[in-house]
Amino acid sequence: MPALVLVGAQWGDEGKGKATDLLGGSVDYVVRYQGGNNAGHTVVIGDQKYALHLLPSGILSPNVTPVIGNGVVIDPGVLLSELNGLNERGIDTSKLLISGNAHLITPYHRTLDKVTERFLGKRRIGTTGRGIGPTYADKINRVGIRVQDLFDESILRQKIEAALHDKNQLLVKLYNRRAIPADLVLEEYLGYADKIKPFLADTTLVLDEALKAGKVVLLEGGQGTLLDVDHGTYPFVTSSNPTSGGACTGSGIGPTKIDRVIGILKAYTTRVGSGPFPTELLDEDGEALRRIGGERGVTTGRDRRCGWFDAVIARYATRVNGLTDFFLTKLDVLTGWEQIPVCVAYEIDGRRVEELPYNQSDFHHAKPVYETLPGWSEDISGAKTFAELPKNAQAYVKALEEMSGAPISAIGVGPGRDETIQINSFL
Ligand code: GDP
Ligand code: IMO
Ligand code: MG
Repeated sequence: MPALVLVGAQWGDEGKGKATDLLGGSVDYVVRYQGGNNAGHTVVIGDQKYALHLLPSGILSPNVTPVIGNGVVIDPGVLLSELNGLNERGIDTSKLLISGNAHLITPYHRTLDKVTERFLGKRRIGTTGRGIGPTYADKINRVGIRVQDLFDESILRQKIEAALHDKNQLLVKLYNRRAIPADLVLEEYLGYADKIKPFLADTTLVLDEALKAGKVVLLEGGQGTLLDVDHGTYPFVTSSNPTSGGACTGSGIGPTKIDRVIGILKAYTTRVGSGPFPTELLDEDGEALRRIGGERGVTTGRDRRCGWFDAVIARYATRVNGLTDFFLTKLDVLTGWEQIPVCVAYEIDGRRVEELPYNQSDFHHAKPVYETLPGWSEDISGAKTFAELPKNAQAYVKALEEMSGAPISAIGVGPGRDETIQINSFL
């Protein structure tokens, strides 16, 4: 059996955690392939709610082996506290595997993330402040620290000292902060080595052997398509590749092994942080979506910006990820609107544009062209089949499917595991 990828189709927070957890019953491995603890994935199982940041959402399924791939950036303090939190709630985390090639977030990455944002002022990205960007920058600049470095004190010392030689100059002379002593960082990070060692694995080899043995591997992305550093709304993006291509580089699984790419798509749109957002609503409809949808960040507690569904974005996600199908989430949140506008194209400087413009100024100017669909007022949270949905809800789903360029194979009608309608055998 092959591998499948699960990606966010918009700006993150589409409900990837819930989708991964649902698929957890039918897969053997769940691999995070990029990002770090900038992610916030909420999973609701019965009356229990879990907020995961760094760990793959599959960690909650007893039969799944969770894997943190080479493409992830790991804050070891966060990793250990997340594991402890789950252990205290009776979740067995002993099967976790961590790639020795994954890069480590250190205190100087977190500090740099925060000071650079502060200095950007109005031009700030609105990052999560977790050190994600500076850690990936060091990786690409070939001065990063990897998980495997924790197990060689002399290499770790050399690397931390070399990194801080530069970074302390920046912190002190440019940003007016205190220098970070290399010895303190070294001592803290050496302290993580024994705790992380039991999880260390050659994850690309493990996954290859698993695939050869007929196991199913789910590659779980953090963030979303429009936060991708290559394909997103640069520079208002994260510093990795959440799109499906990133699943290969971030896990070491080749593209020929992947036969399904599921896009997680919210029935409306949200975004956290700065950057363009054509369908953003700054009125009471936006406020209502935020309230009814509980649109508050799991990681930073910031209110999410809310707007109507944008089919141009969904089509783009289908294109750049090669999506095979969608999981449409949070349809229940739209219950109660008499009319629901859906963005079908943009108007840019008087022209109608059907595809996401690659030019950033065009995207900043894009005005949504709306088509209005009739709403429904019946409570749909108990619906188990497509046929049980009100006719207008069915028509809304069908219209989105047609505009988005890939079939919708499941619909979320509530946060719980069982509040899901399966169509086209999602599981
Ligand atoms: P992720 O980052 O993509 O995993 O998504 P988040 O967990 O940040 O945000 C999605 C939120 O919506 C979470 O609070 C989920 O529990 C919730 N959720 C997921 N699917 C549904 C759904 O179909 N209906 C409703 N009402 N909530 C959902
Ligand atoms: P999940 O996995 C929504 C956003 C931040 C900021 C930008 C860059 O829960 O969908 P970073 O700290 O990554 O350098 O911030 O990306 N961002 C997210 N927005 N959901 C996320 O993750 C996000 N992770 C990062 O708000 O705009
Ligand atoms: Mg989230």
